[in-house]
Amino acid sequence: MAKKTIRYSDFFTQTTQRMRQDGLFLVTADAAGKPNVMTIGWGAIGSIWGRPLFIVLVRPSRFTYSRLEEVGDFTVNVPPRELAAAANLCGTLSGRDHDKFKEAGLTLIPSKQVRPPVIAECVVHYECRTLHRNDVAPEALVQAVLDDAYPAEDFHRVYFGEIVAAYADEDAAERLASTALQGIP
Ligand SMILES: Cc1cc2nc3c(=O)[nH]c(=O)nc-3n(C[C@H](O)[C@H](O)[C@H](O)COP(=O)(O)O)c2cc1C
Repeated sequence: MAKKTIRYSDFFTQTTQRMRQDGLFLVTADAAGKPNVMTIGWGAIGSIWGRPLFIVLVRPSRFTYSRLEEVGDFTVNVPPRELAAAANLCGTLSGRDHDKFKEAGLTLIPSKQVRPPVIAECVVHYECRTLHRNDVAPEALVQAVLDDAYPAEDFHRVYFGEIVAAYADEDAAERLASTALQGIP
């Protein structure tokens, strides 16, 4: 399937909805270029510092965290609904002891601007370069979120990735149509 360049905000609604359903694929690579993938359910597309950004939150316990500390670049890939099982696999196994691409049947294709590849079976892709990172600060977070998200006090690191390329399958809108929002929950 041919991939066409998009504006970073073109699939905002579908990307957000898929993130809240099965999750998105966050692909990283180590300094030697070896890739890993994990599922993310939390993140945001936006504009800060006059640049388009994809913000992702990664707990220090993830293998992905060590990769992002080594190489700040990453890609975010939006799976169609058929990849729900793959998203679950990549969100429960660790790249420390699994080749998740192989186990989930995911094919890698080289990115245009960054080291980590994108996933061919996904329909929308964002290539990102980390501009800033910081840690969730418990003393600055409301108690309700602390209780809900951090009972183990494993606070995320937040990566602000500038979107340096964005593209999608020609039929991405149709493939993601079934995810159409009835309002983002
Ligand atoms: C639907 C779903 C969403 C998830 N979202 C996140 C997330 O936003 N941040 C995070 O740190 N972990 C998240 N996880 C957990 C990681 O994907 C999981 O721990 C994964 O096995 C880490 O892989 P790694 O050790 O190869 O990096 C999510 C898991 C699932 C199933």
